[in-house]
Amino acid sequence: MSNMGQKVFIEFGVGNLFDTFTKIKALSNYYTITIDKKYSKLFPKNEHLVDKYIVGDWREDYDIPLADEWVCVACFEHIKPNEVDDCIQGIIKKIKKDSIGHLHIDLTDHQGGFDHYNPILYKEKNYNSAYLNTISNTEWYKIFENYFNFEYVEKYFENTSEYVKCINFNNMKVKSI
Ligand SMILES: C[S@@+](CC[C@H](N)C(=O)[O-])C[C@H]1O[C@@H](n2cnc3c(N)ncnc32)[C@H](O)[C@@H]1O
Repeated sequence: MSNMGQKVFIEFGVGNLFDTFTKIKALSNYYTITIDKKYSKLFPKNEHLVDKYIVGDWREDYDIPLADEWVCVACFEHIKPNEVDDCIQGIIKKIKKDSIGHLHIDLTDHQGGFDHYNPILYKEKNYNSAYLNTISNTEWYKIFENYFNFEYVEKYFENTSEYVKCINFNNMKVKSI
Protein backbone atom coordinates (compact mmCIF):
# COMPACT_ATOMS: atom_id res chain seq x y z
CA MET A 1 0.00 0.00 0.00
CA SER A 2 1.34 3.48 -0.84
CA ASN A 3 0.30 6.92 0.36
CA MET A 4 -1.72 7.69 -2.83
CA GLY A 5 -1.50 11.46 -2.41
CA GLN A 6 -2.17 11.41 1.32
CA LYS A 7 0.10 13.47 3.57
CA VAL A 8 2.69 11.31 5.30
CA PHE A 9 3.30 11.15 9.03
CA ILE A 10 6.21 9.25 10.61
CA GLU A 11 6.56 8.47 14.30
CA PHE A 12 10.18 7.60 15.12
CA GLY A 13 10.48 5.32 18.16
CA VAL A 14 6.75 4.82 18.66
CA GLY A 15 7.24 2.17 21.38
CA ASN A 16 3.73 1.46 22.69
CA LEU A 17 2.52 5.01 22.08
CA PHE A 18 0.17 4.37 19.12
CA ASP A 19 -2.71 6.05 20.90
CA THR A 20 -1.35 9.60 20.78
CA PHE A 21 0.31 11.24 17.75
CA THR A 22 -0.08 8.36 15.31
CA LYS A 23 -3.74 7.96 16.22
CA ILE A 24 -4.45 11.68 15.70
CA LYS A 25 -2.79 11.60 12.27
CA ALA A 26 -4.49 8.34 11.26
CA LEU A 27 -7.86 9.87 12.13
CA SER A 28 -6.89 12.93 10.03
CA ASN A 29 -6.34 10.67 7.03
CA TYR A 30 -2.55 10.87 6.96
CA TYR A 31 -0.56 7.91 5.69
CA THR A 32 1.05 6.81 8.95
CA ILE A 33 4.41 5.12 9.33
CA THR A 34 6.04 4.07 12.58
CA ILE A 35 9.68 3.02 12.84
CA ASP A 36 10.97 1.36 16.00
CA LYS A 37 13.71 -1.18 16.35
CA LYS A 38 11.64 -3.03 18.94
CA TYR A 39 8.38 -4.82 18.14
CA SER A 40 5.51 -3.62 20.32
CA LYS A 41 3.14 -6.17 21.76
CA LEU A 42 0.46 -3.46 21.49
CA PHE A 43 0.84 -3.32 17.70
CA PRO A 44 -1.85 -5.94 16.90
CA LYS A 45 -4.38 -3.87 18.89
CA ASN A 46 -3.36 -0.71 17.03
CA GLU A 47 -2.71 -2.11 13.58
CA HIS A 48 -5.66 -0.15 12.11
CA LEU A 49 -3.87 3.13 12.98
CA VAL A 50 -0.63 2.33 11.15
CA ASP A 51 -0.28 2.06 7.38
CA LYS A 52 3.33 0.88 7.52
CA TYR A 53 4.79 -0.61 10.67
CA ILE A 54 8.56 -0.91 10.43
CA VAL A 55 10.45 -2.87 13.06
CA GLY A 56 13.93 -1.55 12.43
CA ASP A 57 16.48 1.10 13.15
CA TRP A 58 15.66 4.54 11.76
CA ARG A 59 19.30 4.90 10.68
CA GLU A 60 18.58 2.26 8.01
CA ASP A 61 17.01 3.01 4.61
CA TYR A 62 13.45 1.88 3.86
CA ASP A 63 11.24 2.08 0.78
CA ILE A 64 8.81 4.60 2.25
CA PRO A 65 7.52 8.04 1.21
CA LEU A 66 9.11 11.08 2.88
CA ALA A 67 7.27 12.55 5.84
CA ASP A 68 5.32 15.81 5.73
CA GLU A 69 5.07 15.68 9.51
CA TRP A 70 6.93 13.62 12.09
CA VAL A 71 7.45 13.18 15.82
CA CYS A 72 9.99 11.52 18.07
CA VAL A 73 9.03 11.27 21.73
CA ALA A 74 11.20 10.17 24.66
CA CYS A 75 13.80 8.42 22.52
CA PHE A 76 16.96 10.50 22.35
CA GLU A 77 17.70 10.25 26.08
CA HIS A 78 18.10 6.50 25.48
CA ILE A 79 20.59 6.85 22.64
CA LYS A 80 24.34 6.54 23.16
CA PRO A 81 26.06 9.92 22.67
CA ASN A 82 28.23 8.63 19.83
CA GLU A 83 25.08 7.46 17.95
CA VAL A 84 23.09 10.67 18.30
CA ASP A 85 24.24 12.35 15.07
CA ASP A 86 23.64 9.22 12.98
CA CYS A 87 20.16 8.92 14.47
CA ILE A 88 19.36 12.54 13.60
CA GLN A 89 20.68 12.04 10.07
CA GLY A 90 18.58 8.86 9.78
CA ILE A 91 15.50 10.93 10.59
CA ILE A 92 16.46 13.70 8.16
CA LYS A 93 16.76 11.18 5.31
CA LYS A 94 13.12 10.20 5.86
CA ILE A 95 11.48 13.62 6.02
CA LYS A 96 10.72 16.28 3.41
CA LYS A 97 12.87 19.41 3.39
CA ASP A 98 9.78 21.48 4.26
CA SER A 99 8.38 18.99 6.78
CA ILE A 100 7.43 19.90 10.33
CA GLY A 101 8.57 17.85 13.29
CA HIS A 102 8.17 17.64 17.04
CA LEU A 103 10.74 16.08 19.33
CA HIS A 104 10.48 15.53 23.07
CA ILE A 105 13.30 14.51 25.42
CA ASP A 106 12.71 13.40 29.01
CA LEU A 107 15.68 14.61 31.08
CA THR A 108 14.72 12.90 34.34
CA ASP A 109 16.23 9.66 35.62
CA HIS A 110 12.87 8.07 34.68
CA GLN A 111 12.26 7.46 38.38
CA GLY A 112 11.00 10.92 39.29
CA GLY A 113 14.34 12.64 39.94
CA PHE A 114 17.76 13.43 38.56
CA ASP A 115 19.98 10.83 40.20
CA HIS A 116 21.50 9.92 36.85
CA TYR A 117 23.57 13.13 37.03
CA ASN A 118 25.32 11.68 40.10
CA PRO A 119 28.03 9.32 38.80
CA ILE A 120 27.71 6.90 41.70
CA LEU A 121 23.92 6.70 41.61
CA TYR A 122 24.00 6.56 37.81
CA LYS A 123 25.37 3.04 37.86
CA GLU A 124 22.91 1.83 40.48
CA LYS A 125 19.83 3.40 38.86
CA ASN A 126 20.70 2.03 35.46
CA TYR A 127 21.34 -1.41 36.76
CA ASN A 128 19.06 -3.76 34.86
CA SER A 129 17.08 -0.95 33.23
CA ALA A 130 17.04 0.87 29.91
CA TYR A 131 20.15 2.82 28.97
CA LEU A 132 19.97 6.57 29.74
CA ASN A 133 22.48 9.15 28.59
CA THR A 134 23.19 12.31 30.60
CA ILE A 135 23.25 14.85 27.77
CA SER A 136 21.99 18.14 29.23
CA ASN A 137 19.33 20.50 27.91
CA THR A 138 21.94 23.00 26.69
CA GLU A 139 23.90 20.26 24.93
CA TRP A 140 20.74 19.00 23.22
CA TYR A 141 19.99 22.52 22.05
CA LYS A 142 23.43 22.80 20.45
CA ILE A 143 23.16 19.36 18.85
CA PHE A 144 19.77 19.97 17.24
CA GLU A 145 20.54 23.52 16.11
CA ASN A 146 23.19 22.02 13.83
CA TYR A 147 20.37 20.46 11.81
CA PHE A 148 17.08 22.24 12.48
CA ASN A 149 15.35 25.51 13.16
CA PHE A 150 12.80 25.10 15.96
CA GLU A 151 10.89 26.59 18.86
CA TYR A 152 12.49 25.35 22.05
CA VAL A 153 10.56 24.84 25.32
CA GLU A 154 11.94 23.73 28.71
CA LYS A 155 9.72 22.34 31.46
CA TYR A 156 10.49 22.03 35.19
CA PHE A 157 8.98 20.20 38.14
CA GLU A 158 6.94 22.58 40.29
CA ASN A 159 9.13 22.09 43.37
CA THR A 160 12.57 22.62 41.83
CA SER A 161 14.21 24.70 39.15
CA GLU A 162 17.63 23.08 39.61
CA TYR A 163 17.19 20.74 36.68
CA VAL A 164 15.09 20.82 33.56
CA LYS A 165 12.49 18.03 33.55
CA CYS A 166 11.97 17.79 29.81
CA ILE A 167 12.53 19.71 26.62
CA ASN A 168 10.45 20.08 23.51
CA PHE A 169 11.63 21.06 20.07
CA ASN A 170 8.50 22.28 18.30
CA ASN A 171 7.97 23.21 14.66
CA MET A 172 11.28 21.65 13.67
CA LYS A 173 12.32 22.47 10.14
CA VAL A 174 15.43 21.11 8.48
CA LYS A 175 18.07 23.76 7.94
CA SER A 176 19.08 24.14 4.35
CA ILE A 177 22.77 23.34 4.06
C1 LIG B 1 11.41 5.01 25.84
S1 LIG B 1 10.82 4.44 24.32
C2 LIG B 1 9.64 5.71 23.94
C3 LIG B 1 8.48 5.15 23.22
C4 LIG B 1 7.35 6.13 22.96
N1 LIG B 1 7.75 7.16 22.03
C5 LIG B 1 6.84 6.72 24.24
O1 LIG B 1 7.00 7.93 24.45
O2 LIG B 1 6.29 5.97 25.06
C6 LIG B 1 12.11 4.75 23.15
C7 LIG B 1 11.90 3.95 21.87
O3 LIG B 1 12.82 4.39 20.88
C8 LIG B 1 13.24 3.28 20.14
N2 LIG B 1 14.49 3.63 19.49
C9 LIG B 1 15.56 4.24 20.04
N3 LIG B 1 16.52 4.42 19.13
C10 LIG B 1 16.04 3.92 17.96
C11 LIG B 1 16.57 3.82 16.64
N4 LIG B 1 17.79 4.26 16.34
N5 LIG B 1 15.82 3.24 15.69
C12 LIG B 1 14.58 2.78 15.98
N6 LIG B 1 14.03 2.86 17.22
C13 LIG B 1 14.75 3.42 18.18
C14 LIG B 1 13.33 2.17 21.17
O4 LIG B 1 13.27 0.88 20.59
C15 LIG B 1 12.14 2.48 22.06
O5 LIG B 1 10.98 1.77 21.68
